[in-house]
Amino acid sequence: MSNENPITGDQILRVGPVNPAVAAILNDEFQAAVLPGADDRDAWLEEHGAGIRVAVCSGKIGVDTKLLEKLPYLEAIVNFGVGYDATDVAQAKERGIPLSNTPDVLTDCVADTALGLYLDTLRRLSAAERFVRAGTWASGQNFPLATKASGRKVGILGLGRIGQAIADRLEGFGCEIHYHSRNPKQDVQYPYHASARDLAAATEVLIVAAAGGPDSAGLVNADVIEAVGPEGFIINIARGSVIDEPALIRALQEGTLAGAGLDVFANEPEVPAELLELDSVVLLPHLGSGTVETRADMTAVTIGNLRSFLKDRTLLTPIY
Ligand code: DGY
Repeated sequence: MSNENPITGDQILRVGPVNPAVAAILNDEFQAAVLPGADDRDAWLEEHGAGIRVAVCSGKIGVDTKLLEKLPYLEAIVNFGVGYDATDVAQAKERGIPLSNTPDVLTDCVADTALGLYLDTLRRLSAAERFVRAGTWASGQNFPLATKASGRKVGILGLGRIGQAIADRLEGFGCEIHYHSRNPKQDVQYPYHASARDLAAATEVLIVAAAGGPDSAGLVNADVIEAVGPEGFIINIARGSVIDEPALIRALQEGTLAGAGLDVFANEPEVPAELLELDSVVLLPHLGSGTVETRADMTAVTIGNLRSFLKDRTLLTPIY
């Protein structure tokens, strides 16, 4: 099939800033087109949109509704990252455009990040470090006692590959794992809860590992946050959209939630000023998969998907 109508470099579009290694390969090897910034975008798409057959994007800046509409002959979307909620999946599916992501290779690093946030948030390690740097310890004060992290009841919201890897790690800390997913898992022994609220009410720490997108938007609402409670914590390594962020901020300010560890936010890279002011939260710049090794593996999967599609119109790790 590829021989009949081969895809050329100028028919490949890089959407937004992607990982530098991916960008370099797209540029040096394929001489792929680059989607211009907002000011020049519409005019560029008017002229070149109909020629684009493959889009390569990041999980943060996907191929959204408007862009998809301007790419009438798009044949595939290759997404760098496991999450693809920035892409209009419904439209892509409807038009029969396959989409790939980079599963598995980042599971360990994202789960490690969740554990780091879990330990940091409960034991208040970053706050304690600020205390040392500010000279408060040297001035004779003691840092306030924190919350024990080992042996807690932890609820995993979304027991996919990453959720399970987080659970595996927490078992090593003697934690009792509970979960909620769309459906109970056949081969899992942890107690299942029928809703996010039930899960939050039954556990002490809620770890959000559910995929982003329209189905999970606002899943952790004010009710769920209330069920986590004033002694409880929320950790989020999934997507900011899964949590009602204003409700989370209110609960933290009012002390109806003890603390939160967040790698993701509703409007990244903006972090609400209210969160920046709170000492009970640990805030990370969406670095879940951010290690040299994992980003290299994600690059290999992304470029592997692109090469495969150019060769025989198949993706190595399609979503559907
Ligand atoms: C992804 O790949 O979607 C994750 O957000 C990595 O941090």
